[in-house]
Amino acid sequence: MANIAVTVDGVTYTDDVEPRLLLVHYLRDQVGKTGTPIGCDTSNCGACTVLMNGVSVKSCSVLAVQADGAEVTTIEGMAEGQWHPLQQAFHAEHALQCGYCTPGMIMAAADLLRSNPHPSDQEIREGLEGNLCRCTGYENIVRAVRRAAEAGATS
Ligand code: FES
Ligand code: FES
Repeated sequence: MANIAVTVDGVTYTDDVEPRLLLVHYLRDQVGKTGTPIGCDTSNCGACTVLMNGVSVKSCSVLAVQADGAEVTTIEGMAEGQWHPLQQAFHAEHALQCGYCTPGMIMAAADLLRSNPHPSDQEIREGLEGNLCRCTGYENIVRAVRRAAEAGATS
């Protein structure tokens, strides 16, 4: 077992974990952040995307021990008192149907807007290319990210 200390959504957790434990399983099963879903077993779907030290990562492709000392933000840490502008924009633009991809989409979009606060539609599509949605056809997702960018969402 390895001892790790990870700050998740502003709270620091210290735990013993198996070195092979994936970050997504640590977040869901040990920390209780079930807002981060698992959508595949091939690292393709992006549903499990979180921010690690501000950068989006697929938490199914990161080991929990790699997050030792890191700050992790999940979808559950995005709303502070009220919804994050990206959450508001996804709601306003009907950018979800089943919602399974939505946490990962929002976390990937947050990283995109951090590095590019005013992306073109093409840049939004490229920024989210690691995140799959089976329901929406992506149009409303692009619209939502554009709306959040216009509202000044940069993190
Ligand atoms: S669960 Fe599909 S990429 Fe992580
Ligand atoms: S809203 Fe269902 S997968 Fe995207």
